[in-house]
Amino acid sequence: MSETVLPSDAEITLRRISALTVCDVCELSETLSDEQRNMVADNGTSIAEAHFSENAWFRGVYADETLIGFIMLHEGSDWDDGIDCPGVYLWRFMIARPFQGKGYGKQAIALVVRDLKARGLHELYTSYGQGPGSPEGFYQGLGFKPTGEYYDDELEAVLKF
Ligand SMILES: CC(C)(COP(=O)(O)OP(=O)(O)OC[C@H]1O[C@@H](n2cnc3c(N)ncnc32)[C@H](O)[C@@H]1OP(=O)(O)O)[C@@H](O)C(=O)NCCC(=O)NCCS
Repeated sequence: MSETVLPSDAEITLRRISALTVCDVCELSETLSDEQRNMVADNGTSIAEAHFSENAWFRGVYADETLIGFIMLHEGSDWDDGIDCPGVYLWRFMIARPFQGKGYGKQAIALVVRDLKARGLHELYTSYGQGPGSPEGFYQGLGFKPTGEYYDDELEAVLKF
């Protein structure tokens, strides 16, 4: 994977995960640093959780034809999922280490925001841990603002658009 060189204008798309691609999606987690792995569940765990939820939506993130990441949303408040969020919540998100820092994460979130806007929705929630490996700066750069609420030890933040 680390030898894959992508053009700077690679197109970012969100695609369904199939029986043929699920193992590749799971292996993306192994590329993260130890500190980053403390910030987000492994993709295999997330996909298993999604199958026990009625409110999960998840996709592989692609740059052109290369699988580079994983994204998972949760919609609405659901006690059984342990999520009490007034809207759409970015539940899990990762870009594989070799493809980080190239603007792909930002573009993937922009695709989600585009779709939410088209549905008449104007907020996207998330939560993140703080400290080493934290994605806090990424979310702040996109315009997410802390709400003051916490999920366990994760700070909740919301992007309004
Ligand atoms: C957080 C993550 C998804 C960012 O993806 P990415 O593709 O590397 O981010 P991008 O290249 O699109 O970065 C967009 C901007 O955010 C900045 N940025 C990215 N990660 C950052 C970080 N950890 N801290 C501060 N700024 C960061 C970039 O410098 C860039 O800034 P610019 O627009 O001024 O150039 C990725 O680092 C990741 O998968 N981390 C591990 C898993 C994780 O923490 N997921 C979130 C769980 S809540």
